[in-house]
Amino acid sequence: MELRIWSMSLTLTALLMLAGASLVRSLGNCTVVDMVAFCKERRFNHVPEGLPLKTKELLLNGNGIKAIHNNSLSAYRHLHTLDLSGNQLELIEPAAFSHNKNLQNLNLMNNRIDINYTKTRLALRNLSALTSLDLSGNRLSEVAVSDIVQNLTTLEYLSLARNFIMRLEPSTLEGLAQLRELNLESNYIYEIESGTFEDLKSLTRLNLAHNHIPCIVDFSLYQVKTLNITHNVVELFLARESETEFQLETLDLSNNKLLFFPLLPKHNKLKLLLLADNEMNFYNDLANDSSSEVQFVQIVGNVTNVTSINLWDEVISLNLPELQLLDMSRNSVRYLPPGFLRGITSLSALLLDQNCLRTFSLTEQDSLLFLQAIDLSHNQLSQLNFNISRLWNLNYFNLSFNNLESVPSDLFTKMPWITTLDLSHNRVSVCDYPLGNRRRTLGRGCAALAQIKSLRQLYLSDCDLATLPANAFVGSPLTHLDLSSNAGIRLEVSMFRAVAKSLQSLSLRNNGLDSDQIGSGLQVTFSDLKTLDLSENSITSLHPILKTLPLRSLDLRKNRLSVLQQDVLQSLLQSLQTLYLSGNAFDCCQLKWWTFLIKAESLTIPDRSLVTCNTSFKLEHIDRISQSTKANCKFDNTVLKYFLLLLPTILCILTVCMMVLLSLSSKLLPKYVKAKCGSGAEY
Ligand SMILES: *[C@@H]1O[C@H](CO)[C@@H](O)[C@H](O)[C@H]1NC(C)=O
Ligand SMILES: *[C@@H]1O[C@H](CO)[C@@H](O)[C@H](O)[C@H]1NC(C)=O
Ligand SMILES: *[C@@H]1O[C@H](CO)[C@@H](O)[C@H](O)[C@H]1NC(C)=O
Ligand SMILES: *[C@@H]1O[C@H](CO)[C@@H](O)[C@H](O)[C@H]1NC(C)=O
Ligand SMILES: *[C@@H]1O[C@H](CO)[C@@H](O)[C@H](O)[C@H]1NC(C)=O
Ligand SMILES: *[C@@H]1O[C@H](CO)[C@@H](O)[C@H](O)[C@H]1NC(C)=O
Ligand SMILES: *[C@@H]1O[C@H](CO)[C@@H](O)[C@H](O)[C@H]1NC(C)=O
Ligand SMILES: *[C@@H]1O[C@H](CO)[C@@H](O)[C@H](O)[C@H]1NC(C)=O
Repeated sequence: MELRIWSMSLTLTALLMLAGASLVRSLGNCTVVDMVAFCKERRFNHVPEGLPLKTKELLLNGNGIKAIHNNSLSAYRHLHTLDLSGNQLELIEPAAFSHNKNLQNLNLMNNRIDINYTKTRLALRNLSALTSLDLSGNRLSEVAVSDIVQNLTTLEYLSLARNFIMRLEPSTLEGLAQLRELNLESNYIYEIESGTFEDLKSLTRLNLAHNHIPCIVDFSLYQVKTLNITHNVVELFLARESETEFQLETLDLSNNKLLFFPLLPKHNKLKLLLLADNEMNFYNDLANDSSSEVQFVQIVGNVTNVTSINLWDEVISLNLPELQLLDMSRNSVRYLPPGFLRGITSLSALLLDQNCLRTFSLTEQDSLLFLQAIDLSHNQLSQLNFNISRLWNLNYFNLSFNNLESVPSDLFTKMPWITTLDLSHNRVSVCDYPLGNRRRTLGRGCAALAQIKSLRQLYLSDCDLATLPANAFVGSPLTHLDLSSNAGIRLEVSMFRAVAKSLQSLSLRNNGLDSDQIGSGLQVTFSDLKTLDLSENSITSLHPILKTLPLRSLDLRKNRLSVLQQDVLQSLLQSLQTLYLSGNAFDCCQLKWWTFLIKAESLTIPDRSLVTCNTSFKLEHIDRISQSTKANCKFDNTVLKYFLLLLPTILCILTVCMMVLLSLSSKLLPKYVKAKCGSGAEY
C-alpha cells in the first residue's frame, strides 16, 4: 500500500514537471513561453531555426543579424510581432516576408536599413497586416523614407526618429491613410511643405521634437490631438484662422525661440500648453496706439503673399476654455495683457516662474475657479493686485525670489485651501494677529498668515526678518516652517507656541544663532517635530533643550561644535535616525561621544566621510583618528613635535659622544687589553 501511494505521487510529480516543460522551453539559445520566443542578445547572426512553427512573437533584439533572406522567416507563418532592433541589419530580401501575412508589429530600430532600402521597400509591400513599424536610428534620408513607407496603407504607428530627414513634402508620407501616430523626433527637419500631413486623416499624435523647424505658419492639422515641437527653433506659431474646431489637446512648444505668444486656433480643446524656455513677451505697452501690427511675408514659388496680423488683439481674445496647464516658465514676459486670463476658465496650473514680471494682477473677471497652483518665483515682482474675493481652489502659491516689500495684508486669507506658500527671498514682513496696531503693521503691507486653517508649508527664507510677532501663526496649523537665512533673527518662544503641536519640520539654517538662543527660542513643547535644521549657525554645544524634542533628523553642519554632550545624544537617540555633522572642527582628543554615536545602529550619518576633527595641526577625518585611538592626540602630538624639534640636537650630541668615546677608546683599548691580558704577559 505504502509503496503504491509513493509511486503514484512520483508519477504525479513527473506529470507536473512535464506540464512545466511545455510552458517554458529552451530551444537552441531561445526561451519560448506561450508562443513568444525570447532570443534577445544571444549573439545570433541569422534567424534561429527550429523554433515552434506557431511562434507568434519573435524577439531577436540585440543580436548581430546582417540579413533577412527570402527563406529566413518562411517557417514562422503565425508571426505577428518581430523585433529586430539593435542588429546590424543591412539587407531584407524582397521575398523575406512573403509568408508572414500576419505580421503586425515590426521593429527595425537601430540598424542600417539605409544601405539596401529599395529591397526593404519591396519586402514591406508583402505585409498586408502591418500596423506598427519602427525605423528609428537607420540613417534614412527623406528620399529613402519616402520610398520605404509610401502606400503602407495599413500602418497606424510609424517611428522615423533619429534619422537624417531634412525636408518633408506631401509625397513623403503619401498613402498612409490609417496612420495615427508619427514620430519624427531628432532629425534635421528644417522645412515642412504645406500639405504634408493634411492627407493623414487619422493622425492624432505627431512628434517633431528635436529638429530645426524655424516657424509654423498656417497650422491647420485639425485632426491632431498631440503636437510636440519642443527643442526646435520656432520663432512663430500661427494657426489658420478658421471656424472649424481643432482637436488639439496638447501642444508642446517648449525650448524654442518664440518671441510672441502663439496664435492659437480659435476653436480648440487645448488642455496642456507648454511654452517654457522661449523668449516670449508682450509688447503692447511699448506702443502708444496699440496697433501692433506684424506683417508676415510668405513666399510660395514665385508668389509673395503679405499677411498683416494684429497679434495683441488676438491674444486679448484668447479662448482656451479647456486649458488646464499653462506653462510659460523661463521666458521674458514683463506683464500679462489685461484680460489675458479671462478666456482660460478651466485653468488649474499657471507657471510664470523665471520671467521679468514686475507686477501681477488678478481681477474678478478672471474667473479662475479651478486654479490650484501659481508659480511666480524668480521674477521682479514688487506689486501684487488681487481684486478678487476668493481663490477657492488655490493650494500652491510660489512667490519666492522677487522684490516684494509688501503684499496686500489679506491676500492669503482669500485662499481658503492654500497649503503651500513660498515667500522666500523677498522682504515681506509678517503681521501680528489680530491686526491690532494697524498703523504699524498695515503701513508696511505685512502678510497676514494667522488663521489660515489650510496652511501647512510656509517658506520665509531670506526675508530679512528681524523677528516674528507673537501671534504670527495663530490658528494656522503649520507642519513645515522655513525661517532660514534671516541673519540675526530673534527667536521668541511666543512665535512657536501656536504651531508647537503641528510642526513637523523646522529650518533655522544660517541665522547666526548660538546655543543659548536656540535654547531659549525652542522652549515650547513640540509634540511632533521630526526634522530640525540648525546648520550654518554658531552653535558651540548641544543645548539640553534638544533632549525634549522627538526628532528623527537633525542637521548640525557648519557650526562651531567641538564636542557633543553624551547625555543629550543619549536622549536624542531614542528617536533620531539621521544626523548631519560635517563642517565642524571637533576635538580629536575627546571622541568618546563619536565612538558612542557610531555604535548606535538605528542612526545614519549620511555625511560621515566628511566629518572632521582638529588635531591642532590640521583637520583630519574623524574616523581615521578615532580608529587609531590616542596615537594622534594633542598630548602625543606635542611629544612628537618636541621630539622632532630636538632630534637634530640629540643627533649632534650623540655624534659628539660617539666621537669622544671613539677617540678615548683608541687610547684606552690597548691599556684595557694590556690590563686584561697583563697577567698573561708574565709567561
Ligand atoms: C529573393 O526573392 C526575390 C523575389 O522573389 C528574388 O528576386 C531574389 O532573387 C531572391 N533572392 C535570392 C537570394 O534568392
Ligand atoms: C502610391 O500610390 C499612388 C496611388 O495609388 C501611386 O501613384 C504611387 O506611385 C504609389 N507610390 C509608390 C512608391 O508605390
Ligand atoms: C515632447 O517630446 C520630448 C522629447 O521626446 C519629451 O521629453 C516631452 O515629454 C514631450 N512632450 C509631451 C507633452 O509629451
Ligand atoms: C507714449 O506716450 C507717452 C506720452 O503720452 C510718451 O512720453 C512716450 O514717449 C510714448 N512712447 C512711445 C513708444 O511712443
Ligand atoms: C510665376 O510662375 C508661373 C509658372 O510657374 C509663371 O507662369 C508666372 O509667369 C510666374 N510669374 C512671375 C511674376 O514670374
Ligand atoms: C495670401 O494669403 C491670404 C490670407 O491668408 C489668402 O487668402 C490668399 O489666398 C493668399 N494668396 C496666395 C497667392 O497664396
Ligand atoms: C518655489 O520656487 C523656487 C524657485 O523656482 C523653488 O526653488 C522652490 O522649491 C519653490 N518652492 C516650493 C515650496 O515648491
Ligand atoms: C584647530 O585647533 C587650533 C589650536 O587649538 C586652532 O588654532 C585652530 O583654529 C583650529 N582649527 C579649526 C579649523 O578650528
